[in-house]
Amino acid sequence: MAASESKERLDPLAKTALWTASMRAREHEREDRLFCDPLASLLAGTEGPAIMQRFEGAVQPGVEDPALAVRTRYLDDQLVAQDGAGMRQFVSLAAGMDTRAFRLPWSPGVTVFELDRPALLTLKDELLERAGVHSRCEWIPLGVDLMADWTTPLLEAGFDRARSTTWLIEGLLYFLDPLECDLLLRQLSEMSASGSRLLADYVGRTVLESAAMASWRMRMEEQGHPWKSGSDDPQSLFAGFGWTVRVAAYGDPDVDYGRWGDAVIAPGVPGTRGRYLVSGELV
Ligand SMILES: C[S@@+](CC[C@H](N)C(=O)[O-])C[C@H]1O[C@@H](n2cnc3c(N)ncnc32)[C@H](O)[C@@H]1O
Repeated sequence: MAASESKERLDPLAKTALWTASMRAREHEREDRLFCDPLASLLAGTEGPAIMQRFEGAVQPGVEDPALAVRTRYLDDQLVAQDGAGMRQFVSLAAGMDTRAFRLPWSPGVTVFELDRPALLTLKDELLERAGVHSRCEWIPLGVDLMADWTTPLLEAGFDRARSTTWLIEGLLYFLDPLECDLLLRQLSEMSASGSRLLADYVGRTVLESAAMASWRMRMEEQGHPWKSGSDDPQSLFAGFGWTVRVAAYGDPDVDYGRWGDAVIAPGVPGTRGRYLVSGELV
């Protein structure tokens, strides 16, 4: 499949990966950038910035949402720390146009599996190959449907379920309904050896259902990728699958990076922002 053909085949939800890539590209251009992502602009193409502008123009006029930059940096730091602590197997679910396999300082022996829609990963692979860049770890992109059987292809690609794993679920859970979330968390938990870790972002349910989020949700739905779920009690949600998690709200001292102007809003407390970052360990 040619890159242009792959792009044609991107469904609306897959296109959100171009949007987040364009936000990383914009962050990369800032003098006070929180991370470097020199490939983000290439992967966002022309469509990513167009989607970003549509949202910022219609829903958040004039506002440069700091959440993406803060979440990227927070998760980068967590991943690097886990690598430093000896983790060697990483799986990114719904990896999109994430370039961490190409930009983080991975230790020798690290494998990063990236799962996403086949058309999206074909496009990503082609763009990166054409740019002549090389991953800094063993990078294994796997085109799958995360709502179907993705564990068999992962195992066939060399995933070792006897080894502990770090799972990264970034920019995905709110696009799933509660049953789909449960299914995904159950599947990855069953694939996790002891000592496994989990990193995710999510949104509070009360916040999601609040009037402040109504125009955002309507716009997301109109674009074909509605936000369908949130949780006010992530500790219990993840504990149900064996994980002990720490939940950090954007704006907490370690999730701020000097960018979070709003008050800290904890999960469950209504407000314009109620998104948070989860880091967990399998107990
Ligand atoms: C907002 S993007 C997030 C991408 C990336 N993690 C990031 O933060 O930039 C959502 C991603 O979820 C992927 N996705 C959603 N549902 C999926 C499914 N059922 N199977 C595979 N990928 C899926 C989309 O293709 C898209 O790349």
